Amino acid sequence: MAAKAGAAASFIFMLFLLNIACQAQLSPAFYDSSCPNALSAIRTAIRSAIAGDRRMAASLIRLHFHDCFVQGCDASILLDETSSIQSEKTALGNLNSARGYNVIEKAKTEVEKICPGVVSCADIIAVAARDASSYVGGPSYAVKLGRRDSTTASRTLANAELPAFFESLESLISRFQKKGLTARDMVALSGSHTLGQAQCFTFRERIYNDSNIDAGFASTRRRRCPRVGSDATLAPLDLVTPNSFDNNYFKNLMRNKGLLQSDQVLFNGGSTDSIVSEYSRNPARFKSDFGSAMIKMGDIGLLTGSAGQIRRTCSVVN
Ligand code: HEM
Ligand SMILES: *[C@@H]1O[C@H](CO)[C@@H](O)[C@H](O)[C@H]1NC(C)=O
Repeated sequence: MAAKAGAAASFIFMLFLLNIACQAQLSPAFYDSSCPNALSAIRTAIRSAIAGDRRMAASLIRLHFHDCFVQGCDASILLDETSSIQSEKTALGNLNSARGYNVIEKAKTEVEKICPGVVSCADIIAVAARDASSYVGGPSYAVKLGRRDSTTASRTLANAELPAFFESLESLISRFQKKGLTARDMVALSGSHTLGQAQCFTFRERIYNDSNIDAGFASTRRRRCPRVGSDATLAPLDLVTPNSFDNNYFKNLMRNKGLLQSDQVLFNGGSTDSIVSEYSRNPARFKSDFGSAMIKMGDIGLLTGSAGQIRRTCSVVN
């Protein structure tokens, strides 16, 4: 009798554990029955945004990164400032820099029209990043779904956890390690600097004071980025093909033509040189590793099950 009760109790306990495991697991099929057209609605919105502004592909990929590194992939980055919410939009790495908030909101509006209250803003950011990658020649990959949206945000955490352009390789590796990502994941993800633009103030020190920089490249960049002023003037992170997803970023690094200090540290005699060199020779390997690393990044700090909420509007808590 006691043995039977014990067996029943342990069976129930197993169900309980299984339930926890299921809730913590995302799945690409999460909306297949609750909102079968969600993914195509998002893709349409994202494609039209990028067709009108090619740089938006870069900005959407970066938005997913800056969401996931702060409280996890919970769309905390989309919340506006209120008396109870410290918006992350004004954190150091985001202010006058992160873009694409309105593109995500537009996609959310379209999805709300077909299935109100079902699809999270956090999932829309993750899908948007994938759609952006595939639209400009990067990999496509199955995005796992089922994230829920936060009811909080933290500018303090955003300031503390987003990596900065002047950090050492060791410091960058340790930041990614704390999020469950390896140095190899970090190099692959940094390969998204094959797209997009950076402001003069982020690479000024590098083009005037670094010695590990190609002289011709530095002098070209100095023309539009003086020692003083023009802080917000843009330059492409990949000088060769800033609008298409390819492996030129890694080839640039091997010629000391990385724009940011945090780019060039990936190929500067340290432990990641061999990865950069591998990706410069093998674009297919770069793309498949990038897709896997994006999926891994999308698993950081999730809210699932009944945690958090499905926001109706991405910029405000319900
Ligand atoms: C390794 C640490 C990283 C540092 C220090 C870093 C730093 C930066 C900086 C300073 C900019 C320019 C921002 C501006 O001037 O307004 C930038 C742009 C960008 N970053 Fe990173 N980044 C890192 C990793 C990543 C990762 C992991 C991703 C994506 C998975 C990413 C995607 C992008 C993209 C696509 C842009 C261009 C955005 C646009 O044009 O709107 N970065 N990054
Ligand atoms: C470069 O180094 C010099 C000497 O240390 C310093 O005065 C200057 O502010 C640094 N930065 C730039 C952009 O010139």
